Amino acid sequence: MLKNEKIAVIGAGHMAGALIGGMVRSKLVPAKSIVATRRSPEALAELQRRWGVRTSTDNRKAVAGAGIVILAVKPQMAKKVLEELAGTIRGNQLVISVMAGITTAAISKALRVDGPVVRAMPNTPCLVDAGATAICAGARAGDRELAKAEAVFRSVGLVAALPESALDAATGLSGSGPVYIYMVIEALTDGGVKMGIPRAVAAKLAAQTVYGAAKLVLETGRHPAILKDEVTTPGGTAINAIHVLESRGLRSVLIDAVVAATNRSAELSKLFAE
Ligand SMILES: NC(=O)c1ccc[n+]([C@@H]2O[C@H](COP(=O)([O-])OP(=O)(O)OC[C@H]3O[C@@H](n4cnc5c(N)ncnc54)[C@H](OP(=O)(O)O)[C@@H]3O)[C@@H](O)[C@H]2O)c1
Repeated sequence: MLKNEKIAVIGAGHMAGALIGGMVRSKLVPAKSIVATRRSPEALAELQRRWGVRTSTDNRKAVAGAGIVILAVKPQMAKKVLEELAGTIRGNQLVISVMAGITTAAISKALRVDGPVVRAMPNTPCLVDAGATAICAGARAGDRELAKAEAVFRSVGLVAALPESALDAATGLSGSGPVYIYMVIEALTDGGVKMGIPRAVAAKLAAQTVYGAAKLVLETGRHPAILKDEVTTPGGTAINAIHVLESRGLRSVLIDAVVAATNRSAELSKLFAE
């Protein structure tokens, strides 16, 4: 679908670098169809060497002639870069933004353009092709544009389309979620260490346990509660651990964490809009 598309990636740092890697490796577009920008010429030379993409330090030149423009600078740089690109981006170009907390309406307004804008909330596992990305279409983006954005993010993991009103919630769940799981892995590791397993081994066992459980949920499509019940032997080890987790409120604490991160994401979005 994107084979003949020229893609400009503005702000080719960690997240955009992951996307470039995914698009090139999956042959979504030929490497030469991608032009990546950032200010550091050394970092651009490295991107060019690694992926064979074209590079530029000139954002305006990079977007000229691109069918898709991916905006991936940090939110605090957004105003400056959007101002710079206003008047250069045309209504027939698809803008895809990964900038957290900046709405499609705010992007269109700052770019002074009424073309299609798709917003995405990816997460850092995109770096290892195991990302979870929520995407939403702005007022002028239709199914075609959403499908193009989906193809971009599918090259680095799973994609789910949501209404824009749910993007703060996606930030609270999958956008910030890897952090919660790192804490779980660290805590499980400490549990193993406490009970006598060497730290390096405990860390591997903990991470692989999280990975394996997630893989089983995704690949079988079975409800996690059923998978849990199946391995909970009467009078066994797991049910004793479950009792502790329930009595200390594991589920409520994770729900509260998603709510807190969602609310903060909404607050930050408002700050940008002001
Ligand atoms: N990391 C995540 O988990 C995650 C998740 C969801 C969304 N996001 C979003 O992804 C975006 C990027 O995050 P990141 O972690 O990838 O940050 P990052 O590594 O700092 O990438 C941003 C890049 O923008 C470049 N840049 C700064 N000013 C520029 C300018 N005027 N023109 C062109 N490029 C410029 C910077 O490179 P130079 O200094 O060389 O210019 C930098 O490499 C953010 O908006 C964030 O909200 C990130």
